[in-house]
Amino acid sequence: MRVLVTPDYRTLSRTAAELVIKAVRAKPDLTLGLPTGSTPLGMYEEIVREYRDEHLDFSNMRTFNLDEYVGLLHDAPKSYHSYMRRHFFQHVNVSPGNINIPEGKPGVDFDAEAERYEKAIREAGGIDLLIVGIGTNGHIAFNEPGAPFDSRTRVVDLAPETILNAQRHFGNEHVPRKAITMGMGTIREARRIVLLASGAHKANAVERALRGPVSESVPASALQLHPRVIVILDETVKKN
Ligand code: PGA
Repeated sequence: MRVLVTPDYRTLSRTAAELVIKAVRAKPDLTLGLPTGSTPLGMYEEIVREYRDEHLDFSNMRTFNLDEYVGLLHDAPKSYHSYMRRHFFQHVNVSPGNINIPEGKPGVDFDAEAERYEKAIREAGGIDLLIVGIGTNGHIAFNEPGAPFDSRTRVVDLAPETILNAQRHFGNEHVPRKAITMGMGTIREARRIVLLASGAHKANAVERALRGPVSESVPASALQLHPRVIVILDETVKKN
């Protein structure tokens, strides 16, 4: 596991963006796993900037998002479909047919959807590069503490801490209680994984993930078992 400590969030974002762009340049039909949340916002901004400045071509790239809330329509402002469109897809030329986000809208058969998602990842040849964040409780995607290391895409209950953290973004709106998420087994099969963490509030989770015992009670600790992980932190994580 390589750990890069960058001086600030801007540099963290640039470093992550450079990794992604380098990977797409080396393999234009890259299969990229993508996160949502506050942490990757700067990375998306930097990728979009570079895409414009350097006239990059993402048309052959395939993307798989980590997760989606259950119960929100695609157009709901807080859905991850909306997030991805707003912060990334509307600015770049990823082909709409190459974009994959788990389906969380009401009325879906979620067992069938989970199976479909896993199959789509397999048929794409697996994920080459997966970018992930980490929750304050050590979750990755919506794999909350206790999630089996061999779990696959499925619907899960959000942990109370996750709901509380999300409430800041949802304001007065109701935070969904469930999500559909890639499993830890799905995530661990990615060929390369990049973990991003910024802010003192993540210090404890990062410490437990990187140096604590490997345990399903800290889902991110599974990354210690993976041969090709890069962790990108900024100083604010380290300070605490
Ligand atoms: P955040 O979420 O980037 O909004 O802090 C990360 C996560 O919970 O995985």
